[in-house]
Amino acid sequence: MEKLVHHSVFLVVVTVFLLICRSEELRSSESQALLRIQRLLNFPTILREWKNNTDFCNTEPNQSLAVVCYEDSITQLHIIGEKGAPLLPRNFSIDSFVTTLVNLPDLKVLTFVSLGLWGPLPDKIGRLTSLEILNMSSNFLYGGIPREVSSLTSLRTLILDDNMLAGRLPGWLSSLPLLTVLSLKNNSFNGSVPTSFAYPENLRVLALSHNHFYGEVPDFSRLTNLQVLELEDNAFGPKFPTLGSKLVTLVLSKNRFRSGLPSELSSYYQLDKLDLSYNSFVGPFPQSLLSLPSITYLNVAGNRFTGMLFGNQSCSPVLEFVDLSSNLLTGTVPSCLVSNYKDKVFLYAMNCLATRKQKQHPLQFCRNEALAVGILPEKKKQKQVFKAFLALAILGGAFGSILLVLVIFLIYRRINSRVIKKSSTRSIAENASTGTGYTSKLLCDARYISQTMKMGALGLPGYRTFSLEELEEATNNFDTSAFMGEGSYGQMYRGLLRDGSYVAIRCLKIKRRHGTQNFMQHIDLTSKLRHWNLVSALGHCFECYLDDSSVSSMFLIFEYVPNGTLRSWISEGHSKRPLSWIRRIAAAIGIAKGLQFLHTGIVPGIYRNNLKITDILLDYSLTAKISSYNLPLLANNLGKVSHGISSSGSKDPWIDEEKIDIYDFGVILLEIIKGRQVNSEKKVDALVDQLQLAIAADRAARRSVVDPAVNRSCLDQSLKTMMEICVRCLLKKPEDRPSIEDILWNLQYAAQVQGAWRGDSQSSDSSPI
Ligand SMILES: *[C@@H]1O[C@H](CO)[C@@H](O)[C@H](O)[C@H]1NC(C)=O
Ligand SMILES: *[C@@H]1O[C@H](CO)[C@@H](O)[C@H](O)[C@H]1NC(C)=O
Ligand SMILES: *[C@@H]1O[C@H](CO)[C@@H](O)[C@H](O)[C@H]1NC(C)=O
Ligand SMILES: *[C@@H]1O[C@H](CO)[C@@H](O)[C@H](O)[C@H]1NC(C)=O
Ligand SMILES: *[C@@H]1O[C@H](CO)[C@@H](O)[C@H](O)[C@H]1NC(C)=O
Ligand SMILES: *[C@@H]1O[C@H](CO)[C@@H](O)[C@H](O)[C@H]1NC(C)=O
Ligand SMILES: *[C@@H]1O[C@H](CO)[C@@H](O)[C@H](O)[C@H]1NC(C)=O
Repeated sequence: MEKLVHHSVFLVVVTVFLLICRSEELRSSESQALLRIQRLLNFPTILREWKNNTDFCNTEPNQSLAVVCYEDSITQLHIIGEKGAPLLPRNFSIDSFVTTLVNLPDLKVLTFVSLGLWGPLPDKIGRLTSLEILNMSSNFLYGGIPREVSSLTSLRTLILDDNMLAGRLPGWLSSLPLLTVLSLKNNSFNGSVPTSFAYPENLRVLALSHNHFYGEVPDFSRLTNLQVLELEDNAFGPKFPTLGSKLVTLVLSKNRFRSGLPSELSSYYQLDKLDLSYNSFVGPFPQSLLSLPSITYLNVAGNRFTGMLFGNQSCSPVLEFVDLSSNLLTGTVPSCLVSNYKDKVFLYAMNCLATRKQKQHPLQFCRNEALAVGILPEKKKQKQVFKAFLALAILGGAFGSILLVLVIFLIYRRINSRVIKKSSTRSIAENASTGTGYTSKLLCDARYISQTMKMGALGLPGYRTFSLEELEEATNNFDTSAFMGEGSYGQMYRGLLRDGSYVAIRCLKIKRRHGTQNFMQHIDLTSKLRHWNLVSALGHCFECYLDDSSVSSMFLIFEYVPNGTLRSWISEGHSKRPLSWIRRIAAAIGIAKGLQFLHTGIVPGIYRNNLKITDILLDYSLTAKISSYNLPLLANNLGKVSHGISSSGSKDPWIDEEKIDIYDFGVILLEIIKGRQVNSEKKVDALVDQLQLAIAADRAARRSVVDPAVNRSCLDQSLKTMMEICVRCLLKKPEDRPSIEDILWNLQYAAQVQGAWRGDSQSSDSSPI
């Protein structure tokens, strides 16, 4: 027993001794290096605690000084001096400085900011082979980036902002295999960006602001990870850069861009900050930028954007800063921007808007200027196209009439060819449809232009006829692996088109024998059902009986929405990452907008949509889309009433129709708020009672009934507004339920109250950077 105790005491002593020995021994060369760094930096005040006997690995780190060790070897060193630190004295040698660093062989992360370091970066820096992150901002480094940096193969982040570096951007930088962040802001680099920068696939941040770069930006469409591109204050241009659509921050201000904006910009669903200010951009200002789902900062000031703003334009609920000033915009200030809250900024002076609030030019000024920069108002353009067509027809004489005959023939064929039959007729149909693409474009050019612009905003291709072969190919002959499910409206398949895009295909067996003409009116309506918050139809395909050409099956092709149902994002137990409160409000706003469009955006309106939370799908950007609405085509086939309006027996049928959808919407709101599945009317009634009690009671009571996943992040005022509107939607008497406009107003109010309280969106929507 005694022996054993002795034994263990001995062990402890030996261990302690060994520990002391080891740390003393290992520290000496590295701590000598640190003391030497202190001397070379001329004993700055931040390092005044560093002494001969300091235990560097165990000092308390803070924001300006940190030494991190791993197994008694230094892996990270951060020294951040006072802002605007002066140059180190003449006897400072950057060469000795870097030589000293080489004595810290395991160094992975190095931050030397605002220390007055001066001189050219020495070649020896290439010997710091473990280096992953280097930040030497705010010093006085000059010369170029030495070629030896290319041997730092572990380097992920290189930050040399606010120095005096010059020369060209070396092309080999792009071949550093792991390079993720490259930031060279506020130096004196010049030349153009090498085209090799189109390839480093890890690159996530490229910041070249405040330099003297010029020329076109390389094609960045292959940089699929690029999220931040900052090129402010250079001389890039004149063409808008080609970029991937996952950008989060795009800053092009103060350059020489002179082009129009590409329509893809409206599909950058992750874009949070867009700064195009002080260039010479021309062309129409795409108002859809205001409603990009993630945009918080939009600055287009000081360009020559034209176009008319509409008061009814909608805005993203997260928008915080908008500057449209000094352009050539006309029309009305969008009300979603005017009625904003105190910490939001909206500037629009020096346009020709119909307002007295901020200083405006007379309307004529914008018209004249627009002409001066060579932008014709859209009407004139269309006229020109038409004129050109006329001129062609007249001048061509005989040729013209042949062309006309051909056009008429092709149209005739197209009308007949929407049917795609099995067997021999099918190939004829396809030939005709490829032929008509061109002629119909010429004929209805005006509609074509506005249509494509609309499609651009939604990021969807135009509505078209599909061939059966195309669908068979896309679904691998309607293979079971492509089967998605079966609902009351037929089976759904997922298809992969040749262009690489996914679609959802709904197959309908047609029961009654009808010719295709019977369906055309509905097809026409279906093709117009396009809205940001609807799962939109992309096209259709008929399959016909060979004997009498009546339709045997019909396929409706819809956009494919990848992110699952809204329920899978909120209900308890199912969701790994439940939606934040602001996202839930945004989803509710989306559904309400989709519903509003179904009711009032088309004639005749579409009611009785039998909305269910499982029919609300979320896309990449978590935009809510209604997937199963009362398509007249489908209802008709099932023998239901097609548009409902005329056939309902009640006094004011229209009101009832609308309010049935409002009730269903209320049930969805209830699930969003509670985070629980609500499947029976009984449960709805019980939960409505609970909400009513909570509304009348206090804040704590309201918190206690909301989904626990969000009850800490939602503001009480926002929550209360949501609860109130939910309860009103679920009132028993249809006429007591609110209108869709009323609902939207309240939801937007709830979003704004919540958005004005910073923090929610940041904490929950984990920003990618
Ligand atoms: C550099 O010169 C200063 C005086 O200007 C002196 O205090 C310092 O010790 C010198 N440093 C080195 C590394 O020689
Ligand atoms: C960090 O610590 C150093 C010494 O340990 C001290 O000189 C410096 O003032 C501290 N900085 C901050 C910001 O606390
Ligand atoms: C630090 O150690 C060196 C020798 O390693 C010695 O010459 C010097 O006097 C010591 N300085 C202090 C302040 O202890
Ligand atoms: C470089 O380091 C400084 C000091 O820590 C920091 O303020 C700055 O943001 C860093 N630069 C980048 C691009 O991260
Ligand atoms: C650029 O860097 C200098 C110091 O190197 C600093 O004074 C200046 O404010 C910086 N400019 C910008 C725009 O950051
Ligand atoms: C680019 O910068 C280098 C180094 O500062 C300079 O010699 C050269 O003249 C500059 N080139 C242009 C076109 O400005
Ligand atoms: C907005 O108003 C304009 C005219 O004021 C109208 O043409 C347009 O259809 C309206 N858009 C919506 C979505 O209500």
